[in-house]
Amino acid sequence: MSGTSSERISTLWQTRYRTPAPKTLPDNAVLDLLLSHHSVRAYLPDALPEGTLEAGIAAASSAATSSNLQVWSVVAVENPETRARLAELCGNQKHIEVAPLFLAWIVDLARLERIAERAGMGHEALDYQETFLMATLDTGIAAQNAVTAFESLGLGTVYIGGLRNHPEEVSSLLSLPPRSVAVVGLCVGKPDPAAQNGYKPRLGQDVVLHRERYSTENEAKGIAAYDRIADDYQKEQGLTSRVWSETVAKRVDSFKGLSGRHVIRTVLHRLGFPLR
Ligand SMILES: Cc1cc2nc3c(=O)[nH]c(=O)nc-3n(C[C@H](O)[C@H](O)[C@H](O)COP(=O)(O)O)c2cc1C
Repeated sequence: MSGTSSERISTLWQTRYRTPAPKTLPDNAVLDLLLSHHSVRAYLPDALPEGTLEAGIAAASSAATSSNLQVWSVVAVENPETRARLAELCGNQKHIEVAPLFLAWIVDLARLERIAERAGMGHEALDYQETFLMATLDTGIAAQNAVTAFESLGLGTVYIGGLRNHPEEVSSLLSLPPRSVAVVGLCVGKPDPAAQNGYKPRLGQDVVLHRERYSTENEAKGIAAYDRIADDYQKEQGLTSRVWSETVAKRVDSFKGLSGRHVIRTVLHRLGFPLR
């Protein structure tokens, strides 16, 4: 496509990167939706319209899947008591209690084990890190398709990595079998119109997009620019002023930045993933 970017797509670009949009950008409803993403943490408790869950999962099922192995499952939790317990387990995240639907996305190698056993075959390949990595990637790709579907219906979502704070308790609460683990959660609901939702800027393409080969040539300058942009956003939102690169550097400085999840390999072993 050639020509001039539409005002709408240029605005979305500028909101995301806070830099001028390229002169020519394609524009359609899907790009519009994707560039408009923002996590929602304030929900109305209203039930979702009939068919919403099923439509979201159909979008997830329609995602590409490594070797068509289809290694994920999802547990849809609507029960308020279970959501309240999950909210606690995920670090007291109130939005899990309020949003009417919580999806626990499961890396599910247990199903492949059952299939192999029914076929009278072994399942040695399930023990390897490569299989876990592949399954985690597939699960994330599927979840993101559901996010896009829900957002297309005017709903809000927020991923919940806090679901990995206490994987064994979550497994027990959701009756997950060995060789399966909840890797990320997702709140889904109608956004509370009274709450303000900002569009969080992202690192510029001069930092994340490498052409033909990886290069750090523009990185320091690009990150310094992003530090200013991200701090402006913090201030606009009434949040604590901070330098993004310092925040993320502190986060990786020590295992303590993993909020207790540094033990995940041992926990995964106990949940039936040898990770050879
Ligand atoms: C895998 C994953 C886990 C996340 N976990 C949490 C979480 O536990 N709680 C939360 O409030 N937000 C969580 N988020 C949302 C991120 O904080 C959010 O996407 C990021 O700050 C960018 O903001 P935006 O989505 O509004 O653009 C998570 C996002 C991802 C992708």
